[in-house]
Amino acid sequence: MKTYYKKRAPVYDAVYAYPERQEDLRYLEKYIPDQFTGLKVLEIAAGTGYWTQFIALVAESVLATDATTETLEQLKKRALPDSVSTRQADAYHLEDIPGIFSGAFAGLWLSHVPRQKYREFILGLHSKLTPGAIVVLIDNSKAQCNRLPITHEDEFGNTYQNRALQNGQIYSVLKNFPTQQELHEMTVDISSDLQFEELDNFWLYRYSVKKQPGT
Ligand SMILES: C[S@@+](CC[C@H](N)C(=O)[O-])C[C@H]1O[C@@H](n2cnc3c(N)ncnc32)[C@H](O)[C@@H]1O
Repeated sequence: MKTYYKKRAPVYDAVYAYPERQEDLRYLEKYIPDQFTGLKVLEIAAGTGYWTQFIALVAESVLATDATTETLEQLKKRALPDSVSTRQADAYHLEDIPGIFSGAFAGLWLSHVPRQKYREFILGLHSKLTPGAIVVLIDNSKAQCNRLPITHEDEFGNTYQNRALQNGQIYSVLKNFPTQQELHEMTVDISSDLQFEELDNFWLYRYSVKKQPGT
């Protein structure tokens, strides 16, 4: 998957031009930054920074992370304020990232996390967040399969799609479509103020990191 996104980085933003996504995108471009006003945001799998550019307008700071430097190089080509910094980081190993954050965002990332690793990923993310921090996850709805049909499913129920690069190379990429219930189960004892919304082409899940007694 990393290799696929590394090679696709220069043309990745084409997904934001698909006509059927435009109405939802305008909604999310307002909704997402509205959640992060004045917060220190840790962005996971930021890619080329499509969402970073909107969050950066209102956040105190954004640390945009991704596993590949190629996508982050594209991100840096955007006109972003000095409050945005970047760091190469694996979403499953955030422990080396300095500091603690009051917000977290991951766009079109959870769909690439194997179902059996949802909990590991989210606990690792929470280890970098303050109690009460705002978390927003967004991803594709199943409408995305009209362009990229599911090819097969593995023993954990993870689904896969074939992705073609411009040079014709084809990669089999894990792409899941978690349900509202799965999202709730992932954060069941560690979240509050849950909000789930299903748009035509995307879903969004927003919650606060649960404050423990005394915090
Ligand atoms: C579908 S793209 C999403 C990019 C961006 N968040 C967006 O919404 O446009 C998935 C991103 O995950 C990154 N990625 C893949 N494996 C990763 C990992 N283990 N840790 C962090 N990022 C990873 C890829 O490099 C790619 O930029």
